[in-house]
Amino acid sequence: MTGEARHHVVVDGTDVQFDCLEGDTLLRAALRAGIGLSYECNSGSCGSCRYELLDGEVRTRWSEAPGLSARDRRKGRRLACQSVPVSDCTVRVGTPTEIAMHRPGKQRAELKEVHPLTHDLSEFVFSTGQPAVFSPGQYAMIHLPAGPVERAYSMSNVGNCYGEWRFVVKRSPGGHATSILFDKLEVGDVVELDGPYGHAYLREHDNRNIVCVGGGSGLGAMISIVLGAARLPDAGARTVHLFIGGRTTQDIVVPVALELAAVRLGELNIHAAVSDQADFDQADFEDGEVTSTPYRGFVHDAVVNYFDEAIRDFTCYAAGPPAMTDSLARALVLGQLLDADRLHFDRFY
Ligand code: FES
Repeated sequence: MTGEARHHVVVDGTDVQFDCLEGDTLLRAALRAGIGLSYECNSGSCGSCRYELLDGEVRTRWSEAPGLSARDRRKGRRLACQSVPVSDCTVRVGTPTEIAMHRPGKQRAELKEVHPLTHDLSEFVFSTGQPAVFSPGQYAMIHLPAGPVERAYSMSNVGNCYGEWRFVVKRSPGGHATSILFDKLEVGDVVELDGPYGHAYLREHDNRNIVCVGGGSGLGAMISIVLGAARLPDAGARTVHLFIGGRTTQDIVVPVALELAAVRLGELNIHAAVSDQADFDQADFEDGEVTSTPYRGFVHDAVVNYFDEAIRDFTCYAAGPPAMTDSLARALVLGQLLDADRLHFDRFY
């Protein structure tokens, strides 16, 4: 925040009102106030947070954000995640989403450790010095002052009282944010961490068995969900399947943190799907790392191939690039293998 000045926001046709601190976005101010505006990526790409500004003035952070189509722009629609109110406003929004348990907040986080996991995947460990409050599977926005640039990354651990936030991040070729994270940020440096956000968090009261599907930086969220499931009181009665997708066997990594989860869970099955490499076999993975025959192809096909209709008994969580999560949703939900309310996913653009 840049100060304590605030603007008042009224949601047209409802009794919902909230304050937005100077410099904050409409979306984040609503979520901080416990109001469930629809959203997903928090970064201008998905279009879930479209709204209409009926009165007042906002500053737009990214005017070419791909979350708005040409038609949206013609109709005067805007993105709540890209709108920073500069006066009191009245807005028209779609149907509110469910409210997450934890309201997001900003805090300073110091980089404590970096653990390389593969040729382009590393785990970054930050400390905030105050309890890390989030649900397994959620993400935070990390503001890198060296950019300055902000990106969404999933936590790969679970909430804890000692303020540790872990993130598994895939370096994207030519990516501005990941080049800062991997090449410029040093242990001891401080970033701004804003969160938690996201809908693909572990539903702790859902007692079905679990399928997790992760690719790229989305793997962190799925590790968090497996660790969260292993802490549930009925963990010993739970079966969890974790599917990890990658282009080559080099992209597949099974973090050691899962060893403890495997001990606590009734069953933890780890599957690998490799899409762009023809010649590999189970020997390419360390002993016991992957528990089924590795699948040649895309990870959403691996899930359908393994379960087919048997997936009806599971709740499924997914995080990864849109091509992966959208293919999975098409295969499971449009393919009528799983009800839409049993698939929870976050797309990382
Ligand atoms: Fe605003 Fe995705 S949440 S465009």
